[in-house]
Amino acid sequence: MGTIDTPGQITVEPSGQVCGATVTGVDLRDELSPATVAVLRAAWLEHHVLAFPGQLLTDDDLERFTLAFGPFGDDPYVAPIPGREHVIAIRRDADETAPLFAENWHSDWSFQERPPAGTCLYGITIPPTGGDTLFADQHAALDAMPSSLRDRVAGRMAIHSARGGYAPSGMYGEADRATDRSMDIRPDDSAMATQLHPIVREHPETGRLGLFGCVGYIIGIDGMADDDARDLLVELYHWQTRDEFVYRHRWEPDMLVMWDNRSVLHRATGGYDGHARLLHRTTIGAA
Ligand code: SIN
Repeated sequence: MGTIDTPGQITVEPSGQVCGATVTGVDLRDELSPATVAVLRAAWLEHHVLAFPGQLLTDDDLERFTLAFGPFGDDPYVAPIPGREHVIAIRRDADETAPLFAENWHSDWSFQERPPAGTCLYGITIPPTGGDTLFADQHAALDAMPSSLRDRVAGRMAIHSARGGYAPSGMYGEADRATDRSMDIRPDDSAMATQLHPIVREHPETGRLGLFGCVGYIIGIDGMADDDARDLLVELYHWQTRDEFVYRHRWEPDMLVMWDNRSVLHRATGGYDGHARLLHRTTIGAA
């Protein structure tokens, strides 16, 4: 383990796609200096998704890294791993047949009053093929949006809720408990709650405008009839997730990825049947 923090050695290599960059020249087992955290935060705000390959991290390291960027977020509905309050396992066993976890586009826990600023995900067991994570840049999506659509969403408040996923009747609710899912998901009536957020939102740190959340956790638009809202949200979703706004992230074991939930949507992908996949996840709470 290194002990000397040298932010000057950090290299940030953009992915060449719409967002995302790979960071080398820093050992995340170290206590990061304020100067290093500032360099990494600036890169994170610019590229929205940072990948740190070749990092041999313990859960203590993952937690310490997370806390360098903000407080822990509040992670409902998924039990933490034993012995930790703030680490959850994104896990799929080799022979598991339950529907994939997090396969729909979303911004993590966007139904909260103060959704997490970011998420850290550390690859432990990575399948030889498949299991990529997709990220859709919501600043790019807004910047390129035709005014015919932008005019219909500007100034509108979206109604967010976890009910479609985590209510007892939801996707991960009572019916899901009968599957062979290896993740410890805990559905709850509290998922019925709703929370308003602007569809077009200023990023709290950069001030840059972007689209926040998407249909799924968004279940309606404040002041709009359900059918009209559904149509608009589906049209918006198709725009938000167009190929040109998407960065495809290929995982490696011992790779940490941090993303900015205020700037991107993300989703899991399959394609690794017969192989296990395990990652440990923390969230960075809103400052
Ligand atoms: C997540 O949404 O946290 C999981 C993403 C993934 O499994 O690729």
